[in-house]
Amino acid sequence: MKNKTLIFNWKMNPLTAEEAVDLASASDYKNVVIAPPFIFLNEIGKLFKNAKLGAQDLYWEEKGAFTGEVSAKQLAEAGVSYAIIGHSERRHKMGETDGMTAKKVLAAIKNNLTAVLCIGETEQERAEGKTNQILERQLVNGLSLAKAEGILNDSNLLIAYEPVWAIGTGKAQTAEGAMETSAFIKSLLKKEIDMDIRVLYGGSVTSQNLGEFLGYNEISGALVGGASLKKDEVKKMAEIIEK
Ligand code: PGA
Repeated sequence: MKNKTLIFNWKMNPLTAEEAVDLASASDYKNVVIAPPFIFLNEIGKLFKNAKLGAQDLYWEEKGAFTGEVSAKQLAEAGVSYAIIGHSERRHKMGETDGMTAKKVLAAIKNNLTAVLCIGETEQERAEGKTNQILERQLVNGLSLAKAEGILNDSNLLIAYEPVWAIGTGKAQTAEGAMETSAFIKSLLKKEIDMDIRVLYGGSVTSQNLGEFLGYNEISGALVGGASLKKDEVKKMAEIIEK
């Protein structure tokens, strides 16, 4: 499929380097970005012939006394080319704010990484009819610093629409619903930065439903968690994207 990207977010998996190498070898496809835990980046980066390396997070300062953090610059030096920013687990489990995502987007782009800014509403926000308002807030704030510096373009930015209620729950958004929301996000981007930016969908994507999402022009790929840890699923998803 033309111009569609799959990002595999391994989260805090697998347990050992051996398993990571095995899974990475089975996931080395074109148009695939693999975001492993930091500890495996070096080792699996060496074996890729087709896939690209992604980071699950980054820190905005270049270097110094920031215990436990990894900078955008260090990631770039390690061969990373994509960085997931503002994933819902970071926002909701680690207290990441819109202000932090803005600094991370800026740092990613300044270090020649493609920033993948994740935005999405919780179940409660959705029930209260606040979805669009939440998406707009996360998007506008997350892009604010990079926008002010005039460094955004259609190849260094991707947006991942990830409804929080669909992540890891097996309850994916419908493809039509995801398409409508992607169209809304694209219209916000047009208004905000006057660019046609690609939007991915994430939340319980599997080889079963991937094709439906990718069938829409408004959806330029998928951010996949759980299914990216299963070799048979990876193979089926790669076959869909490589068509
Ligand atoms: P999931 O995770 O595919 O397991 O729902 C998606 C994500 O967190 O990006």
